[in-house]
Amino acid sequence: MFQIVEKRKLNDSMTLMAVNAPFIAKKAKAGQFIILRVDEFGERIPLTVADYDREAGTVTIIYQIVGKTTMKLDQLNVGDALLDFIGPLGQASELEGYKRAAVIGGGAGCAIAWPQAKALHQMGAKVDMIAGFRNKDIIILEDEMRADSDNLYLMTDDGSNGHKGFVTSALEENIENGADYDLVVAIGPLVMMRAVVGVTKPRNIKTIISMNPIMIDGTGMCGGCRLTVGGKTKFACVDGPDFDGFEVDFDEAIKRGRTYFDKERAAAREESC
Ligand code: FES
Repeated sequence: MFQIVEKRKLNDSMTLMAVNAPFIAKKAKAGQFIILRVDEFGERIPLTVADYDREAGTVTIIYQIVGKTTMKLDQLNVGDALLDFIGPLGQASELEGYKRAAVIGGGAGCAIAWPQAKALHQMGAKVDMIAGFRNKDIIILEDEMRADSDNLYLMTDDGSNGHKGFVTSALEENIENGADYDLVVAIGPLVMMRAVVGVTKPRNIKTIISMNPIMIDGTGMCGGCRLTVGGKTKFACVDGPDFDGFEVDFDEAIKRGRTYFDKERAAAREESC
């Protein structure tokens, strides 16, 4: 059993949780994920390792309450335990050797973008963190992103905090003002990542995106997380979750992402009744 040692609400729908998992904490790297199961009746859900403390033996995850399982997860508190907590899974992000990076997070994607910015920053890259949210009420991790980057560009769709506009506007503006990025990392909704690639591809700026499709086993066996990259079938759980943004078939990924939408909503309604 994996005991919860910290729980902190980041906004109305997002929560940070630190879990006692020393073996995972020892090996985890930025970009990897865990799969957890709340109890024996629960489904397995993948969550990115947002942070880890090798000495304390804890792994931090951040989840958004979007369905039945995350609702159940959110009912647990410090001192409670999770049945399964497996990892680290997936390939660690390859972030060595870059001089100047833009790390872009969209909404909940900031929970995954933040550790990437932190890792790049620790490796000596100059990091511009561009974080986009719909409005000020759902901003998360502002202090952490500011601390682990050289500049934080906070964007809101409605201008209620930071600059008004989308993350792509800040990215384009920075590039036009001379930011010589040798890497862009984009993590968030598929349409946002596709829009970022629309800015970087014509300029040939290497772009890494993090894919978060449906996952079941997390070991490359079930095929649930398959996607097409560079014309070939890849599995996000073992080949990713990071991929070359220029190569990903976004249209197919968006279509597959909608497959269980109605069922997920029905299960969430059941859990909240
Ligand atoms: Fe089953 Fe990736 S989650 S193949």
